[in-house]
Amino acid sequence: MAKIIGGLSTSHIPAVGNAVAKELFEDPYWKPFFDGFPAIRGWLDEHKPDVAINIYNDHGLGFFLDCMPTFAIGAAHEYVNEDEGWGIPVMPPYEGDAKLSWHIIESMVEDEFDITSCQELAVDHGFTVPTQLFWPGLQKNPNFPRIIPISANTVQHPIPTLKRALAFGRALRRAILSYPEDIKVVVLGTGGLSHQLDGERAGHINKEFDLMCMDKIVDDPDELTKISRHELVRQAGAQGTEFLMWMMMRGALGDKVKLVHKNYHIPISNTGAGTMLMECIE
Ligand code: DHB
Ligand code: FE
Repeated sequence: MAKIIGGLSTSHIPAVGNAVAKELFEDPYWKPFFDGFPAIRGWLDEHKPDVAINIYNDHGLGFFLDCMPTFAIGAAHEYVNEDEGWGIPVMPPYEGDAKLSWHIIESMVEDEFDITSCQELAVDHGFTVPTQLFWPGLQKNPNFPRIIPISANTVQHPIPTLKRALAFGRALRRAILSYPEDIKVVVLGTGGLSHQLDGERAGHINKEFDLMCMDKIVDDPDELTKISRHELVRQAGAQGTEFLMWMMMRGALGDKVKLVHKNYHIPISNTGAGTMLMECIE
């Protein structure tokens, strides 16, 4: 049977893609951010997951305002990345796992989550930047897993609640654990933490709120579901709603987890940049 070994989260800032391309790992601005990753890479090299479920929020490449699924799951054999206009290199296509995708979609719909299934999906920086951080070299990295994208809407309101995001993750866990093949799965939740890129509050960062979320998500994620969507925007900024992805990931890890590693640094491109690794213990 399939096993979920842990969850990873990180911010997915486009400028990080540029910093990776320019190898600015020791640059004083970037170093405190990149220092959050070697421990996680070591853990991935040790545990070698076969599949990564990459929960991110599309920013207008895969879906636009004319057609905005609340929860979309990739069901393709391959996912392409395209130029989003950030000036960051376009990543080569990612190998999927369509058989597992359809198993997850079947199970989630049976569990009464109404899913948009995507046999074609262009994946944006929310998906690609974290894969570059966790598996440097991507396809050239011998431990690079097959990968399934799951995108949730944080762009066009109404967005999902934190409660629904956590419940989604728990249903995703049931779906993965019922897959009959002996594979190891790691779940990614990308985005956040606090940031607002436009409007009067552009540049808004809330360190206290970010650290509270990183603390509570480990042992008491249900407590965070008391935060309304409006309160989340108020506290974390308009794009800080990407914390929903972290909650989806956390739901997939089961009730008890072990925090293995975390890192928080501000600012990276006007964003509270958080990174975590939680290991499943059941
Ligand atoms: C930026 C973009 C993002 O999608 C994000 O999550 C954080 C920062 C940016 O453009 O700086
Ligand atoms: Fe984003």
